[in-house]
Amino acid sequence: MITGTTRFAPLLAHPCRHVRTPKVFNAECAARQIDMVMLPLDVQPQMLQPTVAALRAVGNLAGMVVTIPHKTAIATLCDRLTGAAALVGACNIVRREADGSLTGGMFDGEGFVAGLRHQDHDPAGRRVLLIGAGGAASGVAHALVAAGVDSLTIANRSAEKAALLVEQLRSAFPQARLGIGPANPRGHDLVINGTSLGMHEGDALPLDPDRLSPGTLVAEVVMQPDVTPLLRAAEARGLAIHKGLHMVEQQVGLLVDFLA
Ligand SMILES: NC(=O)c1ccc[n+]([C@@H]2O[C@H](COP(=O)([O-])OP(=O)(O)OC[C@H]3O[C@@H](n4cnc5c(N)ncnc54)[C@H](OP(=O)(O)O)[C@@H]3O)[C@@H](O)[C@H]2O)c1
Repeated sequence: MITGTTRFAPLLAHPCRHVRTPKVFNAECAARQIDMVMLPLDVQPQMLQPTVAALRAVGNLAGMVVTIPHKTAIATLCDRLTGAAALVGACNIVRREADGSLTGGMFDGEGFVAGLRHQDHDPAGRRVLLIGAGGAASGVAHALVAAGVDSLTIANRSAEKAALLVEQLRSAFPQARLGIGPANPRGHDLVINGTSLGMHEGDALPLDPDRLSPGTLVAEVVMQPDVTPLLRAAEARGLAIHKGLHMVEQQVGLLVDFLA
């Protein structure tokens, strides 16, 4: 029930037809009897700055949840960044403080690791291949290293972004076993698609599924479609899969906590 005291937390995205966060966010608020509501706002990249400037002025704005393509740009519009957001220079949530200032946070990675654990897949001690070095992949990489993986190899189309991510990880976790590699899943027991490949019909697969080893867990950050072509290919080879939906489901409580 929306009343005069309801606080507003829009989801900023472009495009926004695929988003699933409002449904789970609003369900979480309702279940916890928190008077806050989310609507998706379709904001073109060139309109992000004026949109955020206007929202900053809204007294009952709790904050904003942010997704493609705004995660990096919004970090530059915040007054301060906390936790993983400060490490990766990207945000998926912004809290409006009482004085109208904006605090950015990043919970993609924590959500991903919480989703794995919730499905009884502890990432500790695993040899991990992560495809991607964008906003979601960067958060996932930090959280996996913090969760004690054995090793982490990053493969990304733009090699310089993979190198930058490894550099950021090295300064935060000097003892971690990190590498840059091709998207070859052999020898890894957890393989993650952290790119947007799989969202659109006709997308290439992020890796060659014929090179997956027996016993490998294949995980996704893409949540729409629910079972991506990569997950279908892994299932067809008898491998365990982990959907992108688990990441958003476990993350939503963290997002609501940040704004509540
Ligand atoms: N489940 C969840 O809770 C959750 C949370 C956040 C995001 N996501 C999903 O994660 C995905 C990525 O989001 P993001 O915010 O990380 O996006 P992003 O910052 O734009 O990064 C996109 C990544 O995908 C790669 N990529 C894109 N097109 C490619 C192509 N044709 N071939 C090879 N690589 C390609 C990019 O490589 P380059 O660096 O070379 O461009 C980059 O690594 C989206 O599907 C999003 O919906 C899910």
